[in-house]
Amino acid sequence: MQKISVIGAGTMGNGIAHVFAMKGFTVNLVDVSEEALKKAVATITRNLDRMVTKGTISQDDKVATLNNLSTNTSLHSCKDDDLVIEAATENVDIKLKIFQQLEEICKKETILASNTSSISITKIGAVTKRADKVIGMHFMNPVPVMKLVEVIKGYATSDEVLKTIMDISYKLGKSPVEVNDYPGFVANRILMPMINEAIYTLFEGVAGVEEIDTVMKLGMSHPMGPLQLADFIGLDVCLAILKVLHDGFGNPKYAPCPLLVNMVAAGYMGVKSGEGFYNYALGTKDMVISPRFA
Ligand code: CAA
Repeated sequence: MQKISVIGAGTMGNGIAHVFAMKGFTVNLVDVSEEALKKAVATITRNLDRMVTKGTISQDDKVATLNNLSTNTSLHSCKDDDLVIEAATENVDIKLKIFQQLEEICKKETILASNTSSISITKIGAVTKRADKVIGMHFMNPVPVMKLVEVIKGYATSDEVLKTIMDISYKLGKSPVEVNDYPGFVANRILMPMINEAIYTLFEGVAGVEEIDTVMKLGMSHPMGPLQLADFIGLDVCLAILKVLHDGFGNPKYAPCPLLVNMVAAGYMGVKSGEGFYNYALGTKDMVISPRFA
């Protein structure tokens, strides 16, 4: 297992490419947008520089990591890979189309993994002719920092493929946890209702943004409050995951808060759009409370 491709150069894709390249794998980062690829390499370089400054890695490690990384705009560049990890937009149609194409392009031994945060691995596997080699490999943001990989076994995923992915996750220095394929798996089945409830708490006027986040940070020792975390994950991603939970279980307790629905419709996506529950000076960590909710 040496040649890896990561499909999608967004936040998760560039983080996944970063950790594989840092551990000596040959990584091909694929995106339809040349600009997204350039931005991803710049982000990886910045994060590596931060690690050099902190003394976590050496300058030579940084150079070696970047040398292990290449970029491409065509899925055909994945044809000889041992493992392909899809980290595209959290949209079922987009993901199914990518897996159908990978089925045609990749050699028959290639393991096809998805970094989906909630979409059924069984459903993704069923559009290929190798459902036994389709698996979920769900990393957490920021990928270079967070230890967890949620490894999702679809209905047809083989035990051999599961073991390979658990082993490779350990090689990345991560702590993989095996889970079964039900909506939201474990991480988001628990995290998203908490975030949704925090948004309802704001919507119903129980407390303001800062108060809600402070309660959870100081009272429960969470590194970020749930509203800040929602901005960090992306409000569009939170909404997409809640819809998967709502549709998948048919239980009204997962219904997304109307405030979240409205914010996404208005283009307030959190950090990546510059505004969510907080305002962000894009490209910096500075933030102030959004006047709409202060
Ligand atoms: N690459 C490399 N290192 C990074 C980094 C990155 N992208 N981002 C942060 N770091 C490092 C920093 O260098 C720093 O390292 P040291 O401890 O060695 O100094 C460390 O991480 C902490 O960073 P900061 O000091 O800059 O900031 P912080 O203390 O506020 O921590 C945080 C930032 C790690 C993001 C922290 O706020 C946190 O853990 N937040 C919660 C993150 C979380 O819950 N993630 C899961 C989201 S859910 C998800 O991803 C899945 C899904 O499906 C939705």
